[in-house]
Amino acid sequence: MMDTLELRKVMGQFATGVTVITTQVGDDKFGFTANSYTSVSLDPPLILFCLHKDSKGCPVFLKNGAFAVNILADDQIEVSNGFANRELSTEERYQLVSYKSAETGSPILDGAMGYLDCRLSSSLESGDHVIFIGEVIDMGHRPEKRPLIYFQGGYRELLP
Ligand SMILES: Cc1cc2nc3c(=O)[nH]c(=O)nc-3n(C[C@H](O)[C@H](O)[C@H](O)COP(=O)(O)O)c2cc1C
Repeated sequence: MMDTLELRKVMGQFATGVTVITTQVGDDKFGFTANSYTSVSLDPPLILFCLHKDSKGCPVFLKNGAFAVNILADDQIEVSNGFANRELSTEERYQLVSYKSAETGSPILDGAMGYLDCRLSSSLESGDHVIFIGEVIDMGHRPEKRPLIYFQGGYRELLP
């Protein structure tokens, strides 16, 4: 029998950045905090993230066929917590931060240190999550910013 608490602890040993994954086409809008983002391929340029299969976001990503990855900076803990808060509606989450629309319509959050605007390439249900793979069609970054780090279940700052 798998010890879920121990599994979470071991998984938490892997330090990651923090992203907010966004999508919007017309009124179909969603956004959530994710550290499951990773790069997959350079040619073609593919990236992925995983979302719990019971999230109301899964059908929105599938319907919109597009999303953006926003890489959070170290002064965006409030944004990270807001987009991870199950009690907040999508509109309440987006009231926490100003944003612009990317080419696909997906929100690009002000203050993020980088973004990747993607068209959904494929999705795969795996265990209790859905893996979404996107092809990058546009991007931008601000190298002078510092990243928000997530490690052992808490936020950290990158030392110089
Ligand atoms: C730092 C951090 C990283 C997270 N990464 C993920 C993730 O990769 N996938 C996921 O499904 N949930 C992740 N979560 C939890 C979701 O952000 C949270 O469950 C959110 O409420 C999901 O939106 P929903 O409740 O509208 O489905 C993360 C939370 C935090 C604080």
